[in-house]
Amino acid sequence: MRLIVLGAAAGGGFPQWNSNGAACRRARTGDPLARPRTQSGIAVSADGQRWTLLNASPDLRSQIVATPALWPQGAVRSSPITGVVLTNADVDAVAGLLHLRERQALSLWATPYVLGILAANPIFDVLQPEFVPRQSLEPGRSIQVDDGLWLEAFPVPGKVPLYREGNDLADGGASIGVRIAGGFGDTFFVPSCARITPDLKERLSGANLVLFEGTFWTDDEMIDSGASPKSGRRMGHVSVSGEDGVIAQLGDLGIARKVFIHVNNTNPMMLSDSAQRAQVVAAGWEVAQDGLELSI
Ligand code: MLT
Ligand code: MN
Repeated sequence: MRLIVLGAAAGGGFPQWNSNGAACRRARTGDPLARPRTQSGIAVSADGQRWTLLNASPDLRSQIVATPALWPQGAVRSSPITGVVLTNADVDAVAGLLHLRERQALSLWATPYVLGILAANPIFDVLQPEFVPRQSLEPGRSIQVDDGLWLEAFPVPGKVPLYREGNDLADGGASIGVRIAGGFGDTFFVPSCARITPDLKERLSGANLVLFEGTFWTDDEMIDSGASPKSGRRMGHVSVSGEDGVIAQLGDLGIARKVFIHVNNTNPMMLSDSAQRAQVVAAGWEVAQDGLELSI
């Protein structure tokens, strides 16, 4: 299996358009230790010919341009992208669907909750159902997205998207993780997770590869940096550091390769020369960057 990180940053990307934080300033001036990153998503393929996207970020168009494996190889209108799986309905996970218009056949998979949000927003009808059938992804049921490529969704603690907060939609199915399987060890993609539960730890135990959310270093990061009055938890994201954090909670599970993705521009581990990056590396984690390819 091949897996390509199309984008490694959280919503807003790195640098974020309206951030004048020190890290974003470094990224804008070409500092090699503050490499820009686009908003998160990955592409997976069992055969290197047909690719499934996990999430469609607003940066998807430039991500495809930057990724030769996703360039058309056949007819005048064609694409190796055969499907898209959505793990939530945040803007940074779904807005890129709009780049996939142009009467191109592909399958779209999401939970009934996320499909409901797409259905309620007529702009997504630009992906006409005769070309892009919408298929329900039920947690716990494996789906075959291509020959040799199976995915299984599982619920993770999360929250409804920012733009749906405070209205009447239930949040079941608002955020899922995905197990990717197909003749190799298990790979997991969990780009958004509010809390690490015993159930989640059991699931990830012994995995070959885990791509896990690394949005915030600490829960108060946005508040302390003056970026926002919201805590990480309030935004549906567990922190990387701390007792309940990702490094501490997923450290002893025998996971062969651990990679952070969906990293926010306020998270100091984004910077290659930070003390926090050194801690991450010492703990056996990597911080993804755009274009990182993992062969499994
Ligand atoms: C998040 O991951 O918390 C969201 O992408 C935030 C947003 O919608 O900007
Ligand atoms: Mn996000």
